[in-house]
Amino acid sequence: MAQKLKNNLEKKIFIKTFGCQMNEYDSNRIYDLVKSINYKKTDELDKADCYVLNTCHIREKATDKVYHDIGRIKKNFRGRKKPIIVVTGCVAQAEGDILLDREKYIDAVIGPQSLHKFNQIIKNIEKKSLQENLTGFDAKEKFDTLNYYKNSDSSVSSFLTIQEGCDKFCKFCVVPYTRGAEFSRPINELVKECKDLVSNGAKEITLLGQNVNAYCHNEKKLSSLISEISKIKDIERIRYTTSHPKDFTEDLIDIYRSHNKKLTPFIHLPVQSGSNKILEAMNRKHTVEDYLEIINKLREVNPRIKFSSDFIIGYPGETESDFNDTIKLLEKIEFINCYSFIFSPRPGTPAAKLNEIDHNTSKKRLVIFQNTAEKIKLRYRRSLFNKTALVLFENKVKNKDEFFGRDEYANSVIVKTKENLKGKIKKVKIKSGNQNTLFGEIDNKLNERNFAA
Ligand code: SAM
Ligand code: SF4
Ligand code: F3S
Repeated sequence: MAQKLKNNLEKKIFIKTFGCQMNEYDSNRIYDLVKSINYKKTDELDKADCYVLNTCHIREKATDKVYHDIGRIKKNFRGRKKPIIVVTGCVAQAEGDILLDREKYIDAVIGPQSLHKFNQIIKNIEKKSLQENLTGFDAKEKFDTLNYYKNSDSSVSSFLTIQEGCDKFCKFCVVPYTRGAEFSRPINELVKECKDLVSNGAKEITLLGQNVNAYCHNEKKLSSLISEISKIKDIERIRYTTSHPKDFTEDLIDIYRSHNKKLTPFIHLPVQSGSNKILEAMNRKHTVEDYLEIINKLREVNPRIKFSSDFIIGYPGETESDFNDTIKLLEKIEFINCYSFIFSPRPGTPAAKLNEIDHNTSKKRLVIFQNTAEKIKLRYRRSLFNKTALVLFENKVKNKDEFFGRDEYANSVIVKTKENLKGKIKKVKIKSGNQNTLFGEIDNKLNERNFAA
């Protein structure tokens, strides 16, 4: 009877997440928060009493996507009680008032650093259904409040936001305006949250920040935090993203030297361009030479390290020669993965006022860039065939006798098996693969030898 009453009172929340992993972390934390006001996660939009769009503003059409999605929800709920609609994330921060004015179906906009007030806003809307706009910046208050709620993410590979905001102000980027100034969380708080994640089954932790290697709390830097987190027994792997070349200090390079076996030998280090002229115009605060120096030092301390990167193609002022320099850098470093985007003028950023280069030229350059990056990636992936990879298994593939995991370089690997491999690390002989997935076989002999050792 009591259970039936509880189920009747229980409401459902659906969150659609766009953008970076920090938004994924925030969405997980919203699910944790709303439990205390009796909302439970649902994957079925039709059943939602509350629909949240956790948005990203990094490139164009972000706001259009919000209106488009709201249109779909309106259609879905036509003739029925509408769900509470909340827009969170970076579009909410940047365009809050405009969204509320234009789309009366939206009940609230909540910026990334006001998320901790989510429950209060829902209760207000339930009571009086007035539109709410919360876009203040208070990262400390956000995390102080979130600390009261256990992180219940139960993935084998979990995210942990250690740092918010950015003080770099690259001329093209909205992040300093949507996420505010750099803020780092205390180490003890992070170690505690990590232990919670481990108790839920996490084996791999990815430390997150818009500028993760700018992490600094009471003079403790990212390297100290990694060392502390490595001490947690059941954590097998540590990753972090996204780093900035300017903050790649010697102490961080040094931990790759030897002692840290849990830190994966794979670093995402965005460079954006291979031309010093463009890097300066972007206000990136580093040169191509600085970037190469970091790569070389890291390769020297640990030759197994591989890199991925982000590139902006067609930045205002980019000439054919600047673009060729970018291709040269790509070929020189042999990134195993690249994310490339045509420059998108973001409202309110200094670069939005610059004269854009011809869009067709940018498109052609992007195709050349991506073809070159794909060739390098394919060559790298072929080099893995018939070699052994260390794979941490995350989940069973739906409706198949297959298990999915990732190797140290975050490559997706699938093996055929009936065994439940969740949370286990196995040596896998890679047999084949395509651009997205590697296919392998568990090497029983190698794994036995490993346990005997
Ligand atoms: N903090 C990271 C860094 O320093 O590179 C990246 C953060 S940003 C969320 C992810 C990527 O989006 C950037 O590396 C950049 O390549 C891309 N990006 C950001 N603003 C952009 C814009 N206005 N146009 C095109 N790409 C953009
Ligand atoms: Fe954006 Fe990264 Fe530059 Fe910060 S460092 S402004 S997040 S691109
Ligand atoms: Fe997008 Fe905001 Fe992340 S703009 S990339 S969701 S920090």
